[in-house]
Amino acid sequence: MTCSQAQAPVGDMTKFPLDQWYVAGFSSELQDKPIARRLLNQPIVLFRTGSGEVAALEDRCCHRSLPLSCGTVEAQGVRCGYHGMLYAPSGTCIEIPGQERIPAKARVKSYTVVEKNQIVWIWMPRTEGAAPTKEAPAYPHHDDPRYKFGSGAYHYDAPYQLIHDNLLDLSHLGYVHLKTIGGNARQHMNAEMKVTAEGDCVRVVRLMPGTPPPPTYKAAWPFGDTCDRWQEIEFDVTHLRIWTGAIEPGLGALDDPNRGGFHMRGFHGITPETDTTAHYFWSMASNKHPDMPETIDTVIEQTAFTFDEDKLVIEAQHRNMVRFGQQASWLDIHVDVGAVRARRIVARLLQEAQQREQQLTVA
Ligand code: FES
Ligand SMILES: [Fe+2]
Repeated sequence: MTCSQAQAPVGDMTKFPLDQWYVAGFSSELQDKPIARRLLNQPIVLFRTGSGEVAALEDRCCHRSLPLSCGTVEAQGVRCGYHGMLYAPSGTCIEIPGQERIPAKARVKSYTVVEKNQIVWIWMPRTEGAAPTKEAPAYPHHDDPRYKFGSGAYHYDAPYQLIHDNLLDLSHLGYVHLKTIGGNARQHMNAEMKVTAEGDCVRVVRLMPGTPPPPTYKAAWPFGDTCDRWQEIEFDVTHLRIWTGAIEPGLGALDDPNRGGFHMRGFHGITPETDTTAHYFWSMASNKHPDMPETIDTVIEQTAFTFDEDKLVIEAQHRNMVRFGQQASWLDIHVDVGAVRARRIVARLLQEAQQREQQLTVA
Protein backbone atom coordinates (compact mmCIF):
# COMPACT_ATOMS: atom_id res chain seq x y z
CA MET A 1 0.00 0.00 0.00
CA THR A 2 1.24 3.49 -0.76
CA CYS A 3 -0.18 6.30 1.31
CA SER A 4 0.27 10.03 0.93
CA GLN A 5 2.14 11.93 3.63
CA ALA A 6 0.05 13.49 6.40
CA GLN A 7 -1.05 16.97 5.42
CA ALA A 8 -2.41 20.05 7.14
CA PRO A 9 -5.98 19.85 8.52
CA VAL A 10 -8.94 20.46 6.25
CA GLY A 11 -9.25 24.21 5.77
CA ASP A 12 -11.63 26.87 4.61
CA MET A 13 -12.43 26.82 0.90
CA THR A 14 -14.37 30.09 0.98
CA LYS A 15 -11.05 31.95 0.87
CA PHE A 16 -11.01 31.15 -2.86
CA PRO A 17 -13.42 31.96 -5.68
CA LEU A 18 -16.11 29.26 -5.68
CA ASP A 19 -18.66 28.08 -8.22
CA GLN A 20 -15.71 27.64 -10.55
CA TRP A 21 -14.16 24.82 -12.53
CA TYR A 22 -10.61 24.29 -11.34
CA VAL A 23 -8.03 22.00 -12.89
CA ALA A 24 -7.66 18.86 -10.78
CA GLY A 25 -5.06 17.31 -13.07
CA PHE A 26 -4.34 16.03 -16.54
CA SER A 27 -6.05 12.94 -17.95
CA SER A 28 -2.64 11.32 -18.38
CA GLU A 29 -2.06 11.43 -14.60
CA LEU A 30 -5.05 9.23 -13.84
CA GLN A 31 -3.92 5.71 -14.58
CA ASP A 32 -4.59 2.72 -12.34
CA LYS A 33 -3.80 4.31 -8.95
CA PRO A 34 -5.71 6.82 -6.90
CA ILE A 35 -4.09 10.25 -6.48
CA ALA A 36 -4.26 12.25 -3.26
CA ARG A 37 -4.51 15.93 -4.03
CA ARG A 38 -5.47 18.81 -1.78
CA LEU A 39 -7.49 21.37 -3.71
CA LEU A 40 -8.71 24.61 -2.12
CA ASN A 41 -7.83 23.25 1.33
CA GLN A 42 -9.88 20.06 0.75
CA PRO A 43 -8.16 16.64 0.78
CA ILE A 44 -9.47 14.86 -2.28
CA VAL A 45 -8.81 11.51 -3.90
CA LEU A 46 -8.89 11.43 -7.68
CA PHE A 47 -9.19 8.19 -9.56
CA ARG A 48 -10.23 6.58 -12.80
CA THR A 49 -12.39 3.49 -12.44
CA GLY A 50 -11.58 0.36 -14.38
CA SER A 51 -14.37 1.35 -16.74
CA GLY A 52 -12.65 4.68 -17.46
CA GLU A 53 -14.82 7.05 -15.43
CA VAL A 54 -12.95 9.84 -13.62
CA ALA A 55 -14.05 10.63 -10.08
CA ALA A 56 -13.17 12.83 -7.10
CA LEU A 57 -14.14 12.04 -3.52
CA GLU A 58 -13.28 13.33 -0.10
CA ASP A 59 -10.10 11.49 0.82
CA ARG A 60 -11.45 9.76 3.92
CA CYS A 61 -13.13 6.45 4.40
CA CYS A 62 -16.35 6.85 6.42
CA HIS A 63 -15.53 3.69 8.41
CA ARG A 64 -12.29 4.47 10.24
CA SER A 65 -10.94 7.44 8.26
CA LEU A 66 -8.10 5.89 6.31
CA PRO A 67 -7.41 8.08 3.26
CA LEU A 68 -9.10 6.46 0.27
CA SER A 69 -6.00 7.39 -1.70
CA CYS A 70 -4.26 4.54 0.19
CA GLY A 71 -6.66 2.12 -1.47
CA THR A 72 -6.95 0.54 -4.88
CA VAL A 73 -8.94 1.29 -7.98
CA GLU A 74 -11.39 -1.27 -9.33
CA ALA A 75 -13.88 -1.45 -12.19
CA GLN A 76 -16.65 0.18 -10.14
CA GLY A 77 -14.76 2.56 -7.89
CA VAL A 78 -12.11 2.87 -5.19
CA ARG A 79 -11.65 0.26 -2.48
CA CYS A 80 -10.43 1.33 0.95
CA GLY A 81 -7.08 -0.18 1.84
CA TYR A 82 -8.03 -0.97 5.47
CA HIS A 83 -11.23 -3.10 5.57
CA GLY A 84 -12.15 -3.09 1.91
CA MET A 85 -15.24 -0.87 1.66
CA LEU A 86 -15.85 -0.07 -2.01
CA TYR A 87 -16.99 3.41 -3.06
CA ALA A 88 -18.61 4.33 -6.38
CA PRO A 89 -17.73 7.62 -8.13
CA SER A 90 -20.90 9.07 -6.57
CA GLY A 91 -19.36 8.62 -3.10
CA THR A 92 -21.85 5.90 -2.16
CA CYS A 93 -20.43 2.76 -0.59
CA ILE A 94 -21.49 -0.17 -2.75
CA GLU A 95 -19.84 -2.99 -0.85
CA ILE A 96 -18.90 -3.76 2.73
CA PRO A 97 -17.02 -7.04 2.67
CA GLY A 98 -18.70 -9.64 4.92
CA GLN A 99 -21.79 -7.47 5.57
CA GLU A 100 -24.89 -7.50 3.45
CA ARG A 101 -26.63 -4.38 4.68
CA ILE A 102 -25.08 -1.12 3.56
CA PRO A 103 -26.21 1.73 5.83
CA ALA A 104 -27.45 4.91 4.13
CA LYS A 105 -24.71 6.76 6.01
CA ALA A 106 -22.04 4.72 4.25
CA ARG A 107 -20.99 7.41 1.82
CA VAL A 108 -18.44 10.17 1.40
CA LYS A 109 -18.62 13.58 -0.17
CA SER A 110 -18.19 13.56 -3.93
CA TYR A 111 -17.24 16.30 -6.36
CA THR A 112 -18.38 16.82 -9.93
CA VAL A 113 -15.53 16.18 -12.32
CA VAL A 114 -15.41 16.44 -16.09
CA GLU A 115 -12.68 15.22 -18.39
CA LYS A 116 -12.42 17.50 -21.38
CA ASN A 117 -9.57 18.01 -23.86
CA GLN A 118 -7.29 15.84 -21.69
CA ILE A 119 -7.82 18.05 -18.65
CA VAL A 120 -9.67 16.90 -15.53
CA TRP A 121 -11.81 19.78 -14.25
CA ILE A 122 -13.40 19.79 -10.81
CA TRP A 123 -16.37 21.94 -9.88
CA MET A 124 -15.84 23.63 -6.54
CA PRO A 125 -19.32 24.75 -5.46
CA ARG A 126 -20.24 27.39 -2.94
CA THR A 127 -23.02 25.16 -1.64
CA GLU A 128 -22.00 21.58 -0.95
CA GLY A 129 -23.28 19.21 -3.59
CA ALA A 130 -24.63 21.97 -5.85
CA ALA A 131 -24.54 21.23 -9.57
CA PRO A 132 -22.33 23.25 -11.92
CA THR A 133 -23.88 26.43 -13.24
CA LYS A 134 -21.68 26.58 -16.32
CA GLU A 135 -19.83 24.25 -18.65
CA ALA A 136 -16.25 23.20 -18.01
CA PRO A 137 -13.84 25.31 -20.10
CA ALA A 138 -12.78 23.99 -23.47
CA TYR A 139 -9.16 23.77 -24.61
CA PRO A 140 -9.41 22.17 -28.06
CA HIS A 141 -5.70 22.62 -28.87
CA HIS A 142 -4.94 19.51 -26.81
CA ASP A 143 -6.91 17.46 -29.30
CA ASP A 144 -5.79 19.25 -32.43
CA PRO A 145 -3.69 16.90 -34.59
CA ARG A 146 -1.65 19.87 -35.85
CA TYR A 147 -0.09 20.21 -32.41
CA LYS A 148 1.94 18.04 -30.15
CA PHE A 149 1.96 19.10 -26.54
CA GLY A 150 3.91 18.38 -23.41
CA SER A 151 2.68 19.00 -19.90
CA GLY A 152 3.69 19.21 -16.28
CA ALA A 153 2.03 19.25 -12.86
CA TYR A 154 4.09 21.42 -10.52
CA HIS A 155 3.66 21.99 -6.83
CA TYR A 156 4.37 25.50 -5.62
CA ASP A 157 5.34 26.63 -2.15
CA ALA A 158 3.69 29.93 -2.93
CA PRO A 159 0.10 31.22 -3.06
CA TYR A 160 -1.76 30.83 -6.33
CA GLN A 161 -2.06 34.54 -7.13
CA LEU A 162 1.70 34.93 -7.43
CA ILE A 163 1.49 32.54 -10.40
CA HIS A 164 -1.32 34.64 -11.92
CA ASP A 165 0.86 37.74 -11.50
CA ASN A 166 3.80 36.06 -13.18
CA LEU A 167 1.84 34.89 -16.22
CA LEU A 168 0.00 38.15 -16.72
CA ASP A 169 3.25 40.08 -16.84
CA LEU A 170 5.53 38.62 -19.49
CA SER A 171 7.98 41.52 -19.22
CA HIS A 172 9.91 39.22 -16.87
CA LEU A 173 10.98 37.06 -19.84
CA GLY A 174 13.90 39.36 -20.57
CA TYR A 175 15.28 38.90 -17.05
CA VAL A 176 14.22 35.41 -15.96
CA HIS A 177 14.23 33.36 -19.17
CA LEU A 178 17.28 34.47 -21.12
CA LYS A 179 18.27 30.85 -21.84
CA THR A 180 14.94 30.01 -23.53
CA ILE A 181 12.13 32.42 -24.43
CA GLY A 182 13.71 35.63 -23.10
CA GLY A 183 15.32 38.13 -25.42
CA ASN A 184 16.13 41.78 -25.13
CA ALA A 185 15.06 42.90 -21.64
CA ARG A 186 14.65 46.54 -22.60
CA GLN A 187 12.39 45.63 -25.53
CA HIS A 188 10.31 43.44 -23.23
CA MET A 189 9.87 46.29 -20.78
CA ASN A 190 8.98 48.69 -23.61
CA ALA A 191 6.60 46.37 -25.47
CA GLU A 192 3.44 47.97 -26.74
CA MET A 193 0.82 46.66 -24.31
CA LYS A 194 -2.95 46.68 -24.40
CA VAL A 195 -5.00 45.42 -21.46
CA THR A 196 -8.75 44.87 -21.59
CA ALA A 197 -11.11 43.32 -19.07
CA GLU A 198 -14.54 41.86 -19.64
CA GLY A 199 -16.57 40.11 -16.94
CA ASP A 200 -14.19 37.88 -15.01
CA CYS A 201 -11.58 37.79 -17.78
CA VAL A 202 -8.53 39.90 -18.54
CA ARG A 203 -6.75 40.02 -21.85
CA VAL A 204 -3.23 41.36 -22.29
CA VAL A 205 -1.69 41.82 -25.73
CA ARG A 206 1.97 42.73 -26.09
CA LEU A 207 3.72 43.45 -29.36
CA MET A 208 7.46 43.61 -29.91
CA PRO A 209 8.41 44.24 -33.53
CA GLY A 210 12.07 44.09 -34.58
CA THR A 211 13.41 42.10 -31.66
CA PRO A 212 16.14 39.41 -31.61
CA PRO A 213 14.62 35.92 -31.54
CA PRO A 214 15.29 34.18 -28.20
CA PRO A 215 17.03 30.75 -28.07
CA THR A 216 13.83 28.65 -28.10
CA TYR A 217 12.48 30.48 -31.13
CA LYS A 218 15.77 30.09 -32.95
CA ALA A 219 15.86 26.39 -32.17
CA ALA A 220 12.36 25.91 -33.58
CA TRP A 221 12.24 28.22 -36.60
CA PRO A 222 14.83 29.55 -39.05
CA PHE A 223 14.63 33.18 -37.94
CA GLY A 224 17.29 35.67 -38.94
CA ASP A 225 18.66 38.38 -36.65
CA THR A 226 15.30 39.86 -35.80
CA CYS A 227 11.65 38.89 -35.69
CA ASP A 228 8.34 40.53 -34.84
CA ARG A 229 7.06 39.04 -31.55
CA TRP A 230 3.56 38.99 -30.11
CA GLN A 231 2.06 37.73 -26.89
CA GLU A 232 -1.62 37.27 -26.09
CA ILE A 233 -2.56 36.38 -22.54
CA GLU A 234 -6.09 35.49 -21.49
CA PHE A 235 -6.84 35.24 -17.80
CA ASP A 236 -9.89 33.42 -16.52
CA VAL A 237 -10.25 33.02 -12.75
CA THR A 238 -8.89 29.46 -12.62
CA HIS A 239 -6.64 29.25 -15.66
CA LEU A 240 -4.83 31.20 -18.36
CA ARG A 241 -4.31 30.64 -22.03
CA ILE A 242 -1.18 32.20 -23.44
CA TRP A 243 -0.55 32.37 -27.16
CA THR A 244 2.84 33.73 -28.15
CA GLY A 245 4.94 33.71 -31.26
CA ALA A 246 6.87 35.57 -33.89
CA ILE A 247 6.89 36.20 -37.62
CA GLU A 248 9.68 37.21 -39.96
CA PRO A 249 10.09 41.00 -39.78
CA GLY A 250 7.38 42.77 -41.75
CA LEU A 251 5.80 39.51 -43.01
CA GLY A 252 2.33 40.37 -41.78
CA ALA A 253 0.29 42.27 -39.23
CA LEU A 254 1.29 41.30 -35.70
CA ASP A 255 -2.25 41.68 -34.42
CA ASP A 256 -3.73 39.44 -37.14
CA PRO A 257 -4.85 36.13 -35.54
CA ASN A 258 -4.05 34.40 -38.85
CA ARG A 259 -0.45 35.56 -38.86
CA GLY A 260 2.02 32.83 -39.79
CA GLY A 261 5.42 32.11 -38.29
CA PHE A 262 6.27 30.23 -35.13
CA HIS A 263 3.90 30.10 -32.18
CA MET A 264 3.47 28.46 -28.82
CA ARG A 265 0.14 27.76 -27.13
CA GLY A 266 0.35 27.50 -23.39
CA PHE A 267 -2.35 26.29 -21.05
CA HIS A 268 -1.93 27.18 -17.38
CA GLY A 269 -4.28 25.77 -14.76
CA ILE A 270 -3.66 27.31 -11.36
CA THR A 271 -5.43 25.66 -8.47
CA PRO A 272 -4.87 26.72 -4.87
CA GLU A 273 -3.74 23.85 -2.67
CA THR A 274 -3.79 25.72 0.63
CA ASP A 275 -3.71 29.41 1.55
CA THR A 276 0.02 29.48 0.85
CA THR A 277 0.63 26.70 -1.68
CA ALA A 278 -0.65 25.93 -5.17
CA HIS A 279 -0.80 23.44 -8.00
CA TYR A 280 0.34 24.58 -11.40
CA PHE A 281 -0.75 22.46 -14.35
CA TRP A 282 0.81 23.58 -17.59
CA SER A 283 0.91 22.35 -21.12
CA MET A 284 2.76 23.69 -24.13
CA ALA A 285 2.15 23.04 -27.79
CA SER A 286 3.81 24.60 -30.79
CA ASN A 287 3.57 24.39 -34.54
CA LYS A 288 6.39 22.86 -36.52
CA HIS A 289 8.42 24.28 -39.34
CA PRO A 290 8.37 21.87 -42.33
CA ASP A 291 12.19 21.68 -42.31
CA MET A 292 12.56 21.42 -38.52
CA PRO A 293 9.79 19.03 -37.34
CA GLU A 294 11.68 17.49 -34.39
CA THR A 295 12.27 20.81 -32.72
CA ILE A 296 8.84 20.58 -31.15
CA ASP A 297 10.42 18.29 -28.52
CA THR A 298 13.08 20.93 -27.90
CA VAL A 299 10.34 23.52 -27.37
CA ILE A 300 8.62 21.34 -24.77
CA GLU A 301 11.92 20.57 -23.04
CA GLN A 302 12.83 24.26 -22.93
CA THR A 303 9.36 25.12 -21.67
CA ALA A 304 9.85 22.85 -18.66
CA PHE A 305 13.19 24.56 -18.04
CA THR A 306 11.46 27.96 -18.31
CA PHE A 307 8.80 27.02 -15.79
CA ASP A 308 11.44 25.70 -13.40
CA GLU A 309 12.96 29.17 -13.55
CA ASP A 310 9.60 30.76 -12.73
CA LYS A 311 9.12 28.40 -9.80
CA LEU A 312 12.49 29.40 -8.39
CA VAL A 313 11.63 33.10 -8.62
CA ILE A 314 8.07 32.84 -7.33
CA GLU A 315 8.95 30.64 -4.35
CA ALA A 316 11.84 32.96 -3.44
CA GLN A 317 9.46 35.91 -3.76
CA HIS A 318 7.00 34.21 -1.40
CA ARG A 319 9.68 33.33 1.16
CA ASN A 320 10.72 36.96 1.18
CA MET A 321 7.13 38.14 1.56
CA VAL A 322 6.85 35.92 4.62
CA ARG A 323 10.16 37.27 5.94
CA PHE A 324 9.16 40.90 5.58
CA GLY A 325 5.51 40.43 6.54
CA GLN A 326 2.43 42.48 5.77
CA GLN A 327 4.07 45.85 6.34
CA ALA A 328 6.19 45.42 3.21
CA SER A 329 3.79 46.86 0.66
CA TRP A 330 4.16 46.56 -3.11
CA LEU A 331 4.75 49.25 -5.66
CA ASP A 332 2.92 48.89 -8.95
CA ILE A 333 4.71 49.79 -12.21
CA HIS A 334 3.57 49.90 -15.83
CA VAL A 335 3.97 46.17 -16.44
CA ASP A 336 1.50 45.28 -13.68
CA VAL A 337 -1.73 46.49 -15.29
CA GLY A 338 -2.99 43.01 -16.27
CA ALA A 339 -2.04 41.39 -12.96
CA VAL A 340 -3.66 44.19 -10.96
CA ARG A 341 -6.90 43.81 -12.95
CA ALA A 342 -6.90 40.05 -12.33
CA ARG A 343 -6.38 40.58 -8.61
CA ARG A 344 -9.31 43.01 -8.59
CA ILE A 345 -11.52 40.38 -10.21
CA VAL A 346 -10.59 37.76 -7.60
CA ALA A 347 -11.10 40.32 -4.80
CA ARG A 348 -14.52 41.27 -6.19
CA LEU A 349 -15.62 37.63 -6.44
CA LEU A 350 -14.58 37.01 -2.85
CA GLN A 351 -16.31 40.15 -1.67
CA GLU A 352 -19.53 39.29 -3.52
CA ALA A 353 -19.49 35.81 -1.99
CA GLN A 354 -19.00 37.29 1.46
CA GLN A 355 -21.87 39.75 0.99
CA ARG A 356 -24.18 36.96 -0.16
CA GLU A 357 -23.18 34.95 2.90
CA GLN A 358 -23.97 37.89 5.19
CA GLN A 359 -27.35 38.45 3.52
CA LEU A 360 -28.23 34.79 4.04
CA THR A 361 -27.21 35.00 7.69
CA VAL A 362 -29.38 38.11 8.23
CA ALA A 363 -32.33 36.54 6.39
S1 FES B 1 -11.16 2.36 7.30
FE1 FES B 1 -11.96 2.06 5.33
S2 FES B 1 -12.94 0.16 5.41
FE2 FES B 1 -12.22 0.49 7.41
FE1 LIG C 1 8.11 33.03 -16.70
